[in-house]
Amino acid sequence: MLAPSILNADFARLGQQVAEAEGGGADRIHVDVMDGHFVPNLSMGAAIVQSLRRVTRLPLEIHMMVTDPDSLLDGFAEAGSDSFLVHWEGNHHLHRTVQRIRALGKGAGVAINPATPAAVLEEIVPELDQVVVMTVNPGFGHQPFLRTTLPKIERVRELVERTRHACEVEVDGGIDAATAPLVVGAGASVLVAGSAVFGDREGVVAALGRLRAVVDATQQEAEPEKQSTVQRSL
Ligand code: DX5
Ligand code: ZN
Repeated sequence: MLAPSILNADFARLGQQVAEAEGGGADRIHVDVMDGHFVPNLSMGAAIVQSLRRVTRLPLEIHMMVTDPDSLLDGFAEAGSDSFLVHWEGNHHLHRTVQRIRALGKGAGVAINPATPAAVLEEIVPELDQVVVMTVNPGFGHQPFLRTTLPKIERVRELVERTRHACEVEVDGGIDAATAPLVVGAGASVLVAGSAVFGDREGVVAALGRLRAVVDATQQEAEPEKQSTVQRSL
């Protein structure tokens, strides 16, 4: 699944860019919310979500890079958000935050930063629709992909399989046609991409098409391998 991040979109023509992403086959739109405290940058508020809700049918997932996500959930939910990704870091009551998201009838995901181990997710995974492995330090678009996160994506995938709970493994940061095969090979099922989609010289539709082709090819290559592993274990 592909989730273009609008952080790198042209905000002067945001509706048009999101429509292009929808036409190009995006599965959802990733909205990065930053408060200048949790991360050293400011970005979008609920007003943007309210405007986007009118111009796209795609689900809007809200990545809350904020110190106090609980205080903002209601406003974003009313604005038309479909799911929330909240960070493990700095949240002493993560379970409560997840319960609040559920009570609002929205999808719930937890994101972990590059230095945070996969193991912290063990108790919360059964409550989640999504886990997000940050493949850059959050705060800015167009940063280089951190290859050191690859083994962690594998560990998160194992954890999800072990709990036998339907939970997507999402990656966010530095994803392009070169890094997409690596993350898909490691077990990611949802790819967030900002600059690779909205910064592409050939345009949003072409960029999404290229990413989709790479993801599909990697998944097809992985299938025979999976089957032979099953055969070996029989
Ligand atoms: C980083 C954000 C990402 C970012 C991705 O703090 O959470 O969603 O916009 O942008 P790229 O794909 O350019 O790394
Ligand atoms: Zn994000």
